[in-house]
Amino acid sequence: MILLTGGAGYIASHTGVALALAGIPYVVLDNFCNSVPAVLERMHEVGGLKPTLVQGDVRDAATLDALFARYPIQGVVHFAGLKAVGESVAEPALYYENNVSGSVTLIRAMQRAGVKTLVFSSSATVYGNSDASPLPESAPLAPINPYGQSKLMVEYILRDVAAANPDWRVACLRYFNPVGAHISGLLGEDPRGVPGNLMPFIGQVAVGRRPQLSVFGNDYPTPDGTGVRDYIHVMDLADGHLAALRYLQGDLTGRNCLMANLGTGQGISVLQMVQAFEQYTGQKIPFEVAPRRAGDLASYYADPSLANRVLGWKAQRGLKEMCEDSWRWQHRNPMGYAQA
Ligand code: NAD
Ligand code: WQD
Repeated sequence: MILLTGGAGYIASHTGVALALAGIPYVVLDNFCNSVPAVLERMHEVGGLKPTLVQGDVRDAATLDALFARYPIQGVVHFAGLKAVGESVAEPALYYENNVSGSVTLIRAMQRAGVKTLVFSSSATVYGNSDASPLPESAPLAPINPYGQSKLMVEYILRDVAAANPDWRVACLRYFNPVGAHISGLLGEDPRGVPGNLMPFIGQVAVGRRPQLSVFGNDYPTPDGTGVRDYIHVMDLADGHLAALRYLQGDLTGRNCLMANLGTGQGISVLQMVQAFEQYTGQKIPFEVAPRRAGDLASYYADPSLANRVLGWKAQRGLKEMCEDSWRWQHRNPMGYAQA
């Protein structure tokens, strides 16, 4: 049985379904600070396996001790965390408490319970301003905001924990830009308030919730002047977690802490994404060019060859699936899970 902290969130809910479809039961721990309980019913419906829910906070040691005492947890995927870059600049202590202290509390509880396998949701944001794309894992680590710092701190803590005890098995997965939804249209990304990320914003324009997209800058040194990112389908990401869990069960021969990029290796611009969405969904996305967004980089994308080689994992879904699946989710759930 696998514990998914933050298990009702966007990436975790899709990973839960992938686990269920592989016949692996899981427990969801979530405080619902950025998700809703209705997600669990959808996970059940799509995965065919009823998730066990523990409502609680990963910073609460007593909750974790009770959870590990009650369920036969073999491994943990630690998704729980706050992820809004701007909010992390305004409220750094909140981010360090939730993301760093939360992780330490979890690690300590795992030590008490004798659970030593952990997959951690890290982020490409640990690379900071590196302009050396495609980015290998060896690229300089220099996050530029408290959110990114919090991810890198947890990576360092896990590296040290794994070094101190060879029985630990750790994978830090550095996600690039997760997008898309489950093909069923029942699970997807449901941000609160105005979406800060590109794909949910495009979806809300398509469904009529927003009049148009603002394209943040068209004077970057990229082929069409707009920002370039490595968008990865959330179900490919989910499969990456299964691959990591399988890898951690194997013979690690002295290499018990892996840092791996999960991306496609392909850079896509904002305008390419808008065009792809229009082409694959038939929906018009009106846009205007707006000033650059503070803190944005021109271009970054992954070198995913380590994950390809070591995890035997490779992204399978392209722009077509990303756009079609996002639209199916958005179209069927125009107000997200609020209607569920
Ligand atoms: P999300 O907000 O949808 O999911 C996070 C979940 O964790 C939510 O359900 C939230 O309620 C829960 N949570 C937060 N703090 C908690 C706490 N203290 N105790 C219990 N539950 C808590 O976010 P997501 O996009 O699915 O991201 C999941 C993880 O992946 C996060 O750690 C995030 O930093 C990381 N990540 C996300 C992206 C991205 O672009 N979405 C990219 C890289 C890394
Ligand atoms: C993508 C591109 C924007 C919105 C963020 C976090 C990062 C990671 C993923 C967690 C950029 C442009 C966007 C809009 C636009 N999260 N854009 N109009 O900034 O690459 O990464 O999410 O780890 O830490 O910083 O993703 O989707 O916000 O932006 O033109 O309304 O789309 O300028 O070029 P980003 P994004």
